[in-house]
Amino acid sequence: MTDRSDGLPLRRTNPRPAGLFERDPGRDTYASPDLFTNYADFYARAAAAAKTAYRASRAQQDGDFKRYVAELRVACDSCHGLYLKSDQ
Ligand code: HEC
Repeated sequence: MTDRSDGLPLRRTNPRPAGLFERDPGRDTYASPDLFTNYADFYARAAAAAKTAYRASRAQQDGDFKRYVAELRVACDSCHGLYLKSDQ
Protein backbone atom coordinates (compact mmCIF):
# COMPACT_ATOMS: atom_id res chain seq x y z
CA MET A 1 0.00 0.00 0.00
CA THR A 2 1.30 3.45 -0.80
CA ASP A 3 1.69 6.17 1.79
CA ARG A 4 -1.19 8.49 1.05
CA SER A 5 0.17 11.33 3.14
CA ASP A 6 3.53 11.62 1.36
CA GLY A 7 4.54 15.24 1.30
CA LEU A 8 2.20 16.41 4.03
CA PRO A 9 4.01 18.57 6.57
CA LEU A 10 2.16 16.59 9.23
CA ARG A 11 4.46 13.63 8.67
CA ARG A 12 7.51 15.64 9.66
CA THR A 13 6.08 16.91 12.93
CA ASN A 14 3.86 14.02 13.99
CA PRO A 15 5.84 10.87 14.59
CA ARG A 16 3.76 7.89 13.51
CA PRO A 17 3.89 4.38 14.83
CA ALA A 18 5.68 1.99 12.47
CA GLY A 19 3.34 0.24 10.10
CA LEU A 20 0.52 2.75 10.57
CA PHE A 21 0.21 3.42 6.85
CA GLU A 22 0.19 -0.26 5.95
CA ARG A 23 -3.23 -0.64 7.52
CA ASP A 24 -6.36 -0.64 5.43
CA PRO A 25 -8.37 2.50 6.24
CA GLY A 26 -11.43 0.84 4.71
CA ARG A 27 -11.47 -1.76 7.46
CA ASP A 28 -9.53 -0.27 10.35
CA THR A 29 -9.28 3.04 12.14
CA TYR A 30 -6.25 4.96 13.36
CA ALA A 31 -8.35 6.42 16.14
CA SER A 32 -7.56 5.49 19.72
CA PRO A 33 -10.35 3.89 21.75
CA ASP A 34 -9.91 6.86 24.13
CA LEU A 35 -11.65 8.97 21.53
CA PHE A 36 -14.90 7.15 22.20
CA THR A 37 -14.67 7.39 25.98
CA ASN A 38 -13.74 11.11 25.82
CA TYR A 39 -16.01 11.95 22.94
CA ALA A 40 -17.10 15.36 24.26
CA ASP A 41 -13.47 16.47 24.49
CA PHE A 42 -12.72 15.12 21.01
CA TYR A 43 -15.76 16.88 19.59
CA ALA A 44 -14.85 20.19 21.22
CA ARG A 45 -11.31 19.94 19.84
CA ALA A 46 -12.62 19.19 16.36
CA ALA A 47 -15.01 22.16 16.53
CA ALA A 48 -12.27 24.50 17.78
CA ALA A 49 -9.87 23.35 15.03
CA ALA A 50 -12.56 23.92 12.41
CA LYS A 51 -13.10 27.46 13.70
CA THR A 52 -9.38 28.16 13.58
CA ALA A 53 -9.19 26.84 10.00
CA TYR A 54 -12.12 29.07 9.07
CA ARG A 55 -10.45 32.11 10.63
CA ALA A 56 -7.26 31.35 8.71
CA SER A 57 -9.26 31.16 5.50
CA ARG A 58 -10.72 34.63 6.17
CA ALA A 59 -7.51 36.34 7.32
CA GLN A 60 -6.80 39.66 5.60
CA GLN A 61 -3.28 40.13 6.92
CA ASP A 62 -0.20 37.92 6.60
CA GLY A 63 0.36 38.05 10.33
CA ASP A 64 -3.17 36.89 11.15
CA PHE A 65 -2.96 34.05 8.65
CA LYS A 66 0.34 32.87 10.11
CA ARG A 67 -1.00 33.06 13.65
CA TYR A 68 -4.11 31.00 12.82
CA VAL A 69 -2.10 28.43 10.87
CA ALA A 70 0.29 28.05 13.79
CA GLU A 71 -2.71 27.64 16.09
CA LEU A 72 -4.19 25.08 13.73
CA ARG A 73 -0.97 23.09 13.70
CA VAL A 74 -1.09 22.90 17.49
CA ALA A 75 -4.73 21.75 17.27
CA CYS A 76 -3.80 18.97 14.78
CA ASP A 77 -0.81 17.77 16.73
CA SER A 78 -2.37 17.90 20.19
CA CYS A 79 -5.47 16.01 19.09
CA HIS A 80 -3.37 13.38 17.32
CA GLY A 81 -1.24 13.11 20.45
CA LEU A 82 -4.36 12.23 22.43
CA TYR A 83 -6.51 10.33 19.95
CA LEU A 84 -4.36 8.47 17.43
CA LYS A 85 -3.44 4.88 18.22
CA SER A 86 0.11 4.73 19.50
CA ASP A 87 0.60 1.05 20.22
CA GLN A 88 1.21 -0.41 16.75
C1 HEC B 1 -10.19 16.72 17.11
C2 HEC B 1 -9.07 15.83 16.84
C3 HEC B 1 -8.28 15.98 15.57
C4 HEC B 1 -7.87 17.15 14.99
C5 HEC B 1 -8.09 18.59 15.47
C6 HEC B 1 -7.15 16.77 13.79
N1 HEC B 1 -7.12 15.41 13.65
FE1 HEC B 1 -6.27 14.37 12.13
N2 HEC B 1 -6.94 12.65 12.93
C7 HEC B 1 -7.66 12.53 14.10
C8 HEC B 1 -8.04 11.15 14.30
C9 HEC B 1 -8.81 10.58 15.47
C10 HEC B 1 -7.53 10.44 13.19
C11 HEC B 1 -7.71 8.94 12.90
C12 HEC B 1 -9.03 8.78 12.15
C13 HEC B 1 -9.35 7.34 11.77
O1 HEC B 1 -8.45 6.56 11.46
O2 HEC B 1 -10.54 6.97 11.78
C14 HEC B 1 -6.84 11.42 12.36
C15 HEC B 1 -6.19 11.11 11.18
C16 HEC B 1 -5.48 12.00 10.42
C17 HEC B 1 -4.68 11.64 9.25
C18 HEC B 1 -4.48 10.23 8.71
C19 HEC B 1 -5.65 9.90 7.80
C20 HEC B 1 -5.38 8.68 6.97
O3 HEC B 1 -6.37 7.97 6.71
O4 HEC B 1 -4.24 8.41 6.60
C21 HEC B 1 -4.16 12.79 8.76
C22 HEC B 1 -3.25 12.95 7.55
C23 HEC B 1 -4.62 13.87 9.62
N3 HEC B 1 -5.40 13.36 10.63
C24 HEC B 1 -4.30 15.20 9.42
C25 HEC B 1 -4.77 16.23 10.23
C26 HEC B 1 -4.44 17.64 10.04
C27 HEC B 1 -3.52 18.19 8.92
C28 HEC B 1 -5.09 18.32 11.03
C29 HEC B 1 -5.10 19.82 11.29
C30 HEC B 1 -5.42 20.68 10.19
C31 HEC B 1 -5.81 17.35 11.82
N4 HEC B 1 -5.60 16.10 11.31
C32 HEC B 1 -6.58 17.68 12.92
C33 HEC B 1 -7.98 13.55 14.95
C34 HEC B 1 -7.79 14.89 14.71
